[in-house]
Amino acid sequence: MRATARLLGLLLPLALPAQAAPTAEAGRTVFLEKAEPRCGVCHTLSEAGTTGEIGPNLDTLKPDAERVKAAVRNGIGVMPAFEDLSPEEIESVSLYVAGAAGRK
Ligand code: HEC
Repeated sequence: MRATARLLGLLLPLALPAQAAPTAEAGRTVFLEKAEPRCGVCHTLSEAGTTGEIGPNLDTLKPDAERVKAAVRNGIGVMPAFEDLSPEEIESVSLYVAGAAGRK
């Protein structure tokens, strides 16, 4: 019995996040629709078709995923921290921006 509980305890954390595995595809939706305010209001990213000019042009900046994650999670300058996004959504939007920046 105890062994079963311990096994479940090991397997559940592995099984649950797998359903919401972060992907760049999901991140595009976060970038364009889920983030509030929308990233594109302030950032140019050609792949997403956005032309915001309040923040740096992401096509030129070409941030890696860690840099995007830090900015979205903590905020930077006048850019707010996106506290309503889940860790998976932040991971996804980071993968998306890092992969898409400068592509088009
Ligand atoms: C209200 C406008 C605004 C919104 C909305 C916004 N940003 Fe920003 N962002 C900025 C500004 C301004 C900076 C520059 C901050 C500074 O360096 O002082 C910035 C910086 C960044 C940087 C560079 C960070 C660094 O290390 O230099 C990244 C990457 C970034 N934003 C991604 C995003 C993503 C992804 C979203 C959506 C989840 C987003 N931003 C939403 C205004 C915004």
